[in-house]
Amino acid sequence: MNGLTIVRHPLVQHKLRLLRDRASSIQLFRTVMRETATLLCYEVTRDLPTVPIRIQTPVAETEAHELAGKKLVFAPILRAGLAMAEGMLDLVPSARIAHVGLYRDPVSLNPVEYYFKAPVDIAARLVIVVDPMLATGHSAIAAIDRLKAAGVADLRFVCLLAARPGAEALRAAHPDVPIWTAALDETLNDHGYIVPGLGDAGDRTYGTR
Ligand code: URA
Repeated sequence: MNGLTIVRHPLVQHKLRLLRDRASSIQLFRTVMRETATLLCYEVTRDLPTVPIRIQTPVAETEAHELAGKKLVFAPILRAGLAMAEGMLDLVPSARIAHVGLYRDPVSLNPVEYYFKAPVDIAARLVIVVDPMLATGHSAIAAIDRLKAAGVADLRFVCLLAARPGAEALRAAHPDVPIWTAALDETLNDHGYIVPGLGDAGDRTYGTR
């Protein structure tokens, strides 16, 4: 799919196998979710610009490269996005966080916003929206609508698992927002869960099943 990158790194795929497995404990799920998010963060930031600078090592002067361009915001969609954002902060501790509180109406499956708190300079930053499950795409689209309304022009979306219908819906609604995922599953069931998926990511992270 155009604009969608599947991260096929063996470590990501092994961790996804653990996340999919219903036998994995809550503790394991939470840890592996965070680790996988760190690896996905590595991929989603792969093309960030750098500038050369001269530095002094203990031995000699040399050229090094430091990050340039827009500063980063991670925007987890609450609540399941939080554990992923922690894993991404492990890699980019200086990033700011924008919390986007959305829940799915259990009947319509449509997102309802209940919280939004973002850095004041968010419009000048690169915002990486984080949600483990891209299912119908409704929450992702609503979160990105909200961030664009706050002035953000430069966005990326990262998830653990995408369903094809949701990924297509997100690409259609926001063709300027590329997607990174560890896998693309084909379908959703009648409750909007990804099949085969991994179940409810929030419940499995926080033990609320
Ligand atoms: N949210 C989840 O946690 N899991 C799904 O399969 C779909 C949405």
